Amino acid sequence: MSMLNHSAVWRRGLLVAIIVLAALFLLRLHRADGAEQPTESIAAGHRLAEAWCKECHVIGTIATGAKKVPPDFVAVANRHSTTALWLKVFLKTSHPKMPNIIVGPSEADDLVNYIMSLKRD
Ligand code: HEC
Repeated sequence: MSMLNHSAVWRRGLLVAIIVLAALFLLRLHRADGAEQPTESIAAGHRLAEAWCKECHVIGTIATGAKKVPPDFVAVANRHSTTALWLKVFLKTSHPKMPNIIVGPSEADDLVNYIMSLKRD
């Protein structure tokens, strides 16, 4: 009798542990998905944009509303067609009138996170 109780408790403990591990795993997947934007990356992207893109684009959280070329990043972020993937691809391809700025993969991620953070939902 006491042996039986003991193993039932043990089994329940194991079940709880499995559920907790599964939840942690799903949380990690969610993060890796980019669904959550790390604030550090956004801040780094903001700094990069100030350093590399400001010369031509308006940087900041306030849209100028002006239809100009190049567009400000708030306008880019809030276009329905804009996705993180599209931005990533755009930053890898050459940007016609842009000087040869070599954007590395982690820098591109930061810039994309920064631009996407300007999206109002
Ligand atoms: C020398 C000027 C210049 C610099 C510097 C520059 N851009 Fe641009 N950018 C442009 C111009 C001009 C366009 C519009 C024409 C085009 O799409 O190539 C543009 C377009 C874009 C677009 C697409 C907007 C759209 O309408 O679809 C994105 C995104 C963008 N730039 C991001 C960046 C980022 C990020 C940086 C900094 C790493 C940067 N640009 C630096 C000139 C520049």
